[in-house]
Amino acid sequence: MKTIRLGDEAPNFTANSTEGEINFHEWLGEGWGVLFSHPADYTPVCTTELGTVAKYKDAFAQRNVKVVALSVDGIDSHHGWIKDINETQNTSVNFPIIADEDKKVATLYDMIHPNADNNLTVRSVFVIGNDKKVKLTLTYPASTGRNFDELLRVIDSLQLTAYQKVATPANWNNGDDCVIVPSVSNEQIPELFPKGHTEIKPYLRMTPQPNK
Ligand code: BEZ
Repeated sequence: MKTIRLGDEAPNFTANSTEGEINFHEWLGEGWGVLFSHPADYTPVCTTELGTVAKYKDAFAQRNVKVVALSVDGIDSHHGWIKDINETQNTSVNFPIIADEDKKVATLYDMIHPNADNNLTVRSVFVIGNDKKVKLTLTYPASTGRNFDELLRVIDSLQLTAYQKVATPANWNNGDDCVIVPSVSNEQIPELFPKGHTEIKPYLRMTPQPNK
């Protein structure tokens, strides 16, 4: 097991899931991906998380992002629990859940943090770009459900900044003004940012979001 860092290639694996065997890189195809782990099936916070992700299917698809969940429970457990998620969260789980009983993927992605729990995966999130590189990692404890609006917000920033010479400031949301990256000279600004810019300090230059 090696720590996965931003910019690393997402390790490939083959695993059994509720939608059949998945070769991760093939499954990602040319798009973006989210791989996220949860501690265990039939647990309350996880039930709300997976129900929420199912409801966000269109939001992920609009961003060309496929989502796959993982826990160390087995396929039969996953299928039974999906019925509960659908019933209690008023949705229909529409993404695969990996059954990582032998902890192969959890180990590959360092999703088990022994000082938190020796057997269960923590709440890890990996966002993988269409170049198969890791763009974001998040780790939450079992006791705190994740904010999937925040995940979409970060994906919007990642996909914007992958193609435009901007960065996104604190609390940015899609459509808000962006920061011009320091490597852009003032001379380059008119061509790169024809909507204009505001220089608050020489190192703090704002521009309307270029792709809006
Ligand atoms: C939950 O998903 O509710 C949960 C899972 C493991 C530990 C604590 C809570």
